[in-house]
Amino acid sequence: MLVGTQFGDEGKGKLVDYLSDQYDIVVRYQGGANAGHTICFDGKTVVLHLIPSGIFNKDCICVIGNGVVIDPNALMDEIKKVEELGYDVKGRLYISHNAHLIMPYHKRLDSLSESCLSGDNKIGTTGRGIGPSYEDKFARKGIRVVDLLNRDVLKEKLRENLAAKNKLISKVYEQEEIDVEAIIREYEEFDKAIDPYVTNTQLYLNRQIKAGKTVLLEGAQGCLLDVDHGTYPFVTSSNPTSGGACTGSGVAPNHVGKIIGVCKAYTTRVGNGDFPTELDDETGEALGRIGCEFGATTGRKRRCGWIDLVALRYSLTVSGVTELALTKLDVLDTFEEIKVCTSYMLDGKEIHDFPTEHQTLSQVRPVYKSLKGWMASNANARSFSELHPNTQAYITYLEEALEVPVTFISVGPGREETVFK
Ligand code: GDP
Ligand code: IMO
Ligand code: MG
Repeated sequence: MLVGTQFGDEGKGKLVDYLSDQYDIVVRYQGGANAGHTICFDGKTVVLHLIPSGIFNKDCICVIGNGVVIDPNALMDEIKKVEELGYDVKGRLYISHNAHLIMPYHKRLDSLSESCLSGDNKIGTTGRGIGPSYEDKFARKGIRVVDLLNRDVLKEKLRENLAAKNKLISKVYEQEEIDVEAIIREYEEFDKAIDPYVTNTQLYLNRQIKAGKTVLLEGAQGCLLDVDHGTYPFVTSSNPTSGGACTGSGVAPNHVGKIIGVCKAYTTRVGNGDFPTELDDETGEALGRIGCEFGATTGRKRRCGWIDLVALRYSLTVSGVTELALTKLDVLDTFEEIKVCTSYMLDGKEIHDFPTEHQTLSQVRPVYKSLKGWMASNANARSFSELHPNTQAYITYLEEALEVPVTFISVGPGREETVFK
């Protein structure tokens, strides 16, 4: 399994693509097209939102699990995009019949709900309809992939759902109602297009595991955006942490082996919410500029700051991370001094545990330890010993402070720019 350990965008796509030649199957288990997983190979840069990041390895089967919320339009566009790059999708992509759909009214409600929140209370969602779709799922009103395969069922469910949503849209938000028939016409057409991919992925995955196949579960977002464990309410509406991988795929916990946590060598966050090590200064600007920190889904500027060991200790514990993949180390190449947040100050006292409630987290101040930068490029390093001694010292310090080994080090966006330790 591979999970994000910060606020998302840690480089999960790059790592999954890199690792996919060691696995038979890669599975997305939560989130939806709010994710943007970037893969750079053969001089190309591709951003995937729904299809697992193993798709560019021709021997790898990809599965979109039951825990994912699927926007059929976004999925069809993505399938086309991958095929245009010369990769077969039919026969290599399976979609869970139980995955829930994102409907046009979910996107509309996502933005209406945000527009009603004032200033600092806005979540800053990606506007992809994620929250409203998961709301329907848990309210047991959702429409699932399997419903797309039966036009009568789809019509009935859409009419029922839209009757309620339109009341909400017109009476509460005082906006124009959505045309039910137009959505029915649009969504009816997906049956033939999606049918070849749909299967009972829970059964499929468990049978493949029984037959000895290897599976990599690919998380979207990151631990601190988890609806249960993250910086609520500034989170997404699913469980990116390792626990979510089992419910979102149907793979039982006893089949889970190693849990790789992906972590940037610094921290970024896109959207609103607490961020103790955020830097509103030239250093933060430099991290964003050098790291090209713009959202892969929305293009928004990512907020930047130093690495936060208080938050990381928490997220590694919650996800049971057994090893770390440290990414974007090259972004630190030109910094003379590299800071690491080791604890927080709260009301004049030093604390070491990560507070997840906004009231407390918004009050903490980071305590930093300063480490020497390396002022050199590691771009050509392919083994730990080839890294600059100060880079090695930074990594060793993180391993000791977090009590987990760093097994992958990423020194550039490309597939090959990876050091395996
Ligand atoms: P994900 O959502 O976790 O898959 O991450 P994103 O794709 O949203 O953001 C990570 C960004 O960093 C992408 O633009 C990647 O191409 C890029 N990236 C990944 N690893 C490295 C690295 O080691 N160095 C640099 N400079 N860029 C990287
Ligand atoms: P990947 O998989 C970074 C953030 C949004 C917002 C909050 C809720 O690429 O790491 P949502 O649309 O999910 O309701 O938005 O979560 N967010 C992400 N931030 N990377 C992501 O995915 C994200 N997916 C959602 O910016 O703050
Ligand atoms: Mg991303």
